Amino acid sequence: MKPLWGIVFYDVRSLVDEKVRIFDTTLRDGEQTPGVSLNLDDKLKIARQLDKLGVNVIEAGFPVSSKGEFDSVRQIAREGLQAQVCGLSRIVKKDAQACLDADVGMVHVFVPTSDIQIAHTIKMSHDEIVAGAMETVQFVKDSGRTCLFSAMDATRTSPQFLHRIFKAVEEVHCDIINIPDTVGVAAPSAFYRFVKDICDDVNMVVDVHCHNDFGLAVANSLAAVEAGAREVQVCVNGLGERAGNANLAETVMSLHAIYGARTSIKTEYLVETGRMVERLTGVKIPITAPIIGDNAFSHESGIHSHGVIENSKTFEPGIMTPEMVGHKRRIVMGKHTGRHAVAKVLEEGGYLPTEEQLQEILERIKELGDKGKQIANIDLQAIADVVIGEVARGSQAVVLKEVSVMTGNIITPTATVKALVRGKEKVLAHIGVGPVDAAVNAVQGLLDSDTSIHLCDFRIEAISGGADALAEVVIGVEDDRGRKVSARSAREDIVMASVEALVSAINRLMLLNDAAERKKA
Ligand code: KIV
Ligand code: ZN
Repeated sequence: MKPLWGIVFYDVRSLVDEKVRIFDTTLRDGEQTPGVSLNLDDKLKIARQLDKLGVNVIEAGFPVSSKGEFDSVRQIAREGLQAQVCGLSRIVKKDAQACLDADVGMVHVFVPTSDIQIAHTIKMSHDEIVAGAMETVQFVKDSGRTCLFSAMDATRTSPQFLHRIFKAVEEVHCDIINIPDTVGVAAPSAFYRFVKDICDDVNMVVDVHCHNDFGLAVANSLAAVEAGAREVQVCVNGLGERAGNANLAETVMSLHAIYGARTSIKTEYLVETGRMVERLTGVKIPITAPIIGDNAFSHESGIHSHGVIENSKTFEPGIMTPEMVGHKRRIVMGKHTGRHAVAKVLEEGGYLPTEEQLQEILERIKELGDKGKQIANIDLQAIADVVIGEVARGSQAVVLKEVSVMTGNIITPTATVKALVRGKEKVLAHIGVGPVDAAVNAVQGLLDSDTSIHLCDFRIEAISGGADALAEVVIGVEDDRGRKVSARSAREDIVMASVEALVSAINRLMLLNDAAERKKA
């Protein structure tokens, strides 16, 4: 046992010395996720993002399966990416030829090797399978491309046959062999021994492809790397057949932070990549997902929030920070929130409550929390406004004076807004696609050109029925440093509600900036 991070813990940091290659199969196995279908444009966007992230291989698809699939693999292969682009092929010459025609740099040849899959899918003898694998690998190698060979369902294949087929493809100069745990039945300690025996037996790079049927895909991939595998197959957000494949972010961050291993991944793009794939596939990232989930660096309970505010390592791993993965730390208000956290969040928002006001705010938060509500920053600001009063927060940067709007079917909607901006009276007229747009444009136009604030959220929620319904408008604004605040207003007049919400959000953001400047000074 070696001491690690101040405690006695089994240290795995010296176990992986060489670089581990990251083979991404989001566009092939990931696209086999039930319910997911990507068009060419989406696939190109994902391929470019994976390249930006720094994966070594992008498995772009199965070219022989359809004309659309062939075209998309070929287009990705011709994008001029840094990553090597790979196409999938059975032990059938026309499959491999389709990969070559699609201009991929790597061909992934696979064949089932377990008795159950052989008997119920390809129905060939062991001799025929070995011959087919050798011929296809040889064909790929003759074309000058890199060849990866997979013994599908390896973890349920007899070790003798696995040894035979891997040695056979080695003979025809296969570059990389893959050990798929196709139905996710391996246990990490068993998979370690299994992979180690194969690594000791062959002279090729060993790769693994782990499915997540028992939630062990990442653990198995890590065990394989400990055993000597130097390439892992992963999918963004753990997409893939059934329960998916090993999750890219989890595998990579475990390798980097826990094992101290190296990969070519630029980890600061992990959140960005996960969210892009979430948007394009429609498969939601759970809030509790490690690394990139909304809650991965969020703290609610009083004890945790207090600790993290003092030193983030108290209730975070420390060896992995939100900045490393492109995430943000959040203190979330709820029934477990403590005084310290509320005071800190309020201070960041420019509020300086007295002890009694802070106590009152805390009680209101807990009351809402007990009713099952999570309190967003915007709600906290609303509570603070009521308890402290607007005046106590200091002077408003923008004070609205007048708003008038002209609209109709023969004129372009135009809004005129008069306001005091940092004490100076300003009037501005602006057009828009509708009255709300015109008014929002006019308010934005009132700000100095060096105040860069843009709209990041705009929602209109009717909160009572009928023609005189109260419209509740929620507006979020963001500055160029990524600071975001939102505000809401409810009125029968939707234009006024929008303008008031916008002005209030701008004021909050400016207060936040002023508070940050004061802190710096
Ligand atoms: O799960 C699997 O075995 C596969 C192979 C094609 C490698 O996806
Ligand atoms: Zn698979």
